[in-house]
Amino acid sequence: MISVKGNRLFVGEVAASGLARQFGTPLYVYDEETIRSKVRALLQNIPCRPLKLYYAAKANTNLAILKVIKDEGGEFVGIDAVSPGEIEMALKAGFRPEQIIFTSTSVTDEEMRFAVAKKVLVNCDSLSQLERYGKLNPSSKVCFRVNPDVGAGHHSHVITGGPDSKFGIWAGEIGKAFEIAAKHNLKIIGIHEHIGSGILETGKFLDAMKVLLAIISKNREKLGDLEFVDFGGGIGVPYKLDQKPIDMNVFGSAVSKLFSDFCSSFGRQLAMVIEPGRFLVAESGVLLCTVNTIKQTPKHKFVGVDTGFNHLIRPMAYGSYHPILAVETCESNKKEKIAVCGNICESGDVFTRNESGIADRKLPKIKEGDVLAILVAGAYGFSMASTYNTRPRPAEVLVSNGKARVIRERESMAHVIYGV
Ligand SMILES: Cc1ncc(COP(=O)(O)O)c(C=O)c1O
Repeated sequence: MISVKGNRLFVGEVAASGLARQFGTPLYVYDEETIRSKVRALLQNIPCRPLKLYYAAKANTNLAILKVIKDEGGEFVGIDAVSPGEIEMALKAGFRPEQIIFTSTSVTDEEMRFAVAKKVLVNCDSLSQLERYGKLNPSSKVCFRVNPDVGAGHHSHVITGGPDSKFGIWAGEIGKAFEIAAKHNLKIIGIHEHIGSGILETGKFLDAMKVLLAIISKNREKLGDLEFVDFGGGIGVPYKLDQKPIDMNVFGSAVSKLFSDFCSSFGRQLAMVIEPGRFLVAESGVLLCTVNTIKQTPKHKFVGVDTGFNHLIRPMAYGSYHPILAVETCESNKKEKIAVCGNICESGDVFTRNESGIADRKLPKIKEGDVLAILVAGAYGFSMASTYNTRPRPAEVLVSNGKARVIRERESMAHVIYGV
């Protein structure tokens, strides 16, 4: 757990300040038990069986994290991979090819050949891809992604259903997908959708499920080989104090009932697949950084730290809120309004933002040398990090049973400059 004890921040049972001293900053730190508890929460609250959780590895692709998820979820877990690199990572973590689904967009033939050579199921994102896949690999198994014209998510950039989304085969064009599949004698074993990311209401998820299930019902005679329905990921987590987590019990019962009722009418029990990414890892992670500059303008007191949007892009990309704490003084009666900014040469590089710009936060008085923790940073943090401004990416540390170990070394300057 990430917790505050005696006004200090702890990851697992380890003080964040000690981790910063031991490993240096900027530093990503993850708590193993939090990840395990999130896997268990899904398995315990979604009674429907067979159930597969295909972890959306893009949220955090660290090999050690994939291994934790595999260890906790056993035969219930697999990987949603969006690139050959993620397929490689999943195989290296010990997932078998049949536990991996390759769901990408704007896919080349070469990438499909890679997946086929690795015996990984390809989830086709367009009629064009399905046609090319059919030519490359006739008479094989396939899955395809539907855009159900229902979208949801914390920001327009992550809404993946509806006419503005580039993803999936438009629901109205599904007839053509069946024609292409029949032409190449493809066995459609899975149908997929993913409507967006950061969803905190069960209703949206159910709406999209109903659309997909209606499409399946309507085309049941063409789906004699169907083995699973994949409803994608998107389960959100609270980033702000006033946000409520999704009630997993309500979510699990509702999706299970809907799917079980559908399977009864379909005449066969199919497997339900969901693809949680953020839900499993977001709350496990913090980004630790050190304050090196404090300066004032007529509008803001800027507190400058040794990381930036190159390491955590969510505030800059989506105006996302991440809680920020001073690790040795989490609370105080004496607070001041500050803007926490990074070390990247762009004015947008401010962690305390909303969608319209800089939004000051009230934090205990901070001085240069203090360590800050940017919380709920385990998903789409390191995996979206870059070396922009020729700054190496941080190290990653995993805390397990009270012990911290490096799970990715800090990137060297040589690696950034020469790529080796
Ligand atoms: C196809 C697919 N599945 C699952 C996910 C995971 O989403 P989340 O991390 O919100 O659960 C994504 C995220 O973009 C996705 O594109």
